[in-house]
Amino acid sequence: MPTNRDTLLPLHAEMTGWRRDFHAHPELGFQETRTGGRVAALLEAAGIVVTRGVGRTGLVGTLKTGKSTRSIGLRADMDALPIAEGNRFVHRSTHEGVMHACGHDGHTAMLLGAAVHLARTRRFDGIVHFIFQPAEEGLGGARAMVEDGLFTRFPCDAIFGMHNRPKLGLGRFAVKSGPMMAGGGFFDIRVTGRGSHGARPESSVDAALVAAQIAVSIQSIVARNLSALDNAVVSVTRIHAGDAYNVIPQTAELGGTVRAFSRQTMEAIEAHLRRIAEGTAAAFGASATLDFRVPFAPTINDAEQAEFAASICTGLVGAEKVDRNPPPIMASEDFSFMLEQVPGCYINIGNGDGEGGCEVHNPGYDFNDESLPLGAAFFVRAVETRLAAAA
Ligand code: NI
Repeated sequence: MPTNRDTLLPLHAEMTGWRRDFHAHPELGFQETRTGGRVAALLEAAGIVVTRGVGRTGLVGTLKTGKSTRSIGLRADMDALPIAEGNRFVHRSTHEGVMHACGHDGHTAMLLGAAVHLARTRRFDGIVHFIFQPAEEGLGGARAMVEDGLFTRFPCDAIFGMHNRPKLGLGRFAVKSGPMMAGGGFFDIRVTGRGSHGARPESSVDAALVAAQIAVSIQSIVARNLSALDNAVVSVTRIHAGDAYNVIPQTAELGGTVRAFSRQTMEAIEAHLRRIAEGTAAAFGASATLDFRVPFAPTINDAEQAEFAASICTGLVGAEKVDRNPPPIMASEDFSFMLEQVPGCYINIGNGDGEGGCEVHNPGYDFNDESLPLGAAFFVRAVETRLAAAA
């Protein structure tokens, strides 16, 4: 009998307890010491070998059965967000201004449940690495683990991660091959002109005016420099210049974010930003510099691994509850840095649309505990299928 949602029901209460405990004690990126400590203790109690401090507060649990050297990596994120929780239920955050508003508490609990179940049943032949990642919310936790030798120390033939999706019905999955979530870049443009008295513009090179021209001109990048079929966003989200009514500012700063579905498009946008910033500033007799960084690579699922993940989901809930063509998401996810190293797939599990079904990063959000057995069953079945013991 292949593993299904019901197989994991005996662990439902425990997973719910862990999830609510993590929810009540949220920790920001690279500060997940309590969460990581609890995860490590539970893994070790189940007989899983734990390596701590991979990518600072990250950790890896390794479970080996049989003789095969085939391997699979399963990843969950552990960090919370700097949001004051608006919920009033018993398991609400006890850490002021910090909240699990993206469901990483649930991701951690699901993977823990899968690990405990697999350690008890061991119906596979090979090596499973349970990757508990820190600092997914823009602080570079996945990259920190990769740079700490994650895949050289814990080689994986393929990797899988899962994120809950509000508004996707409970008991449903969404799996997509290719670009799934946008890469995210942040930029800062610093303009230097010549300050002067507000009543004497002839003595100035007005940095505020130059910044305004740049802000308008860079909106031509998506409209005029990219193919109409290439989806991208350039948003100027901050403009700062000047402190007084009677001073023309010498410097100005503008910054914002870029989203795109390939590294190539991100690099093209960076080049256009630089050209427009420097060229516009020069046209007005000022100068400008661009700082561009990419905290999130585009999330791109490997075609073969996406097929595999979809077949696991279909086996669990039936084809009609697996959305194979969900719209790409403009938000970003740093599992992308792991997917750049090892072929794999990121999938979505429905968080439902009832109570607690509000969007992630909202003060009223809560992970839906009803999806814990199904999420854990995905991981278990993926291991048992991929590392199937010879009959
Ligand atoms: Ni998230």
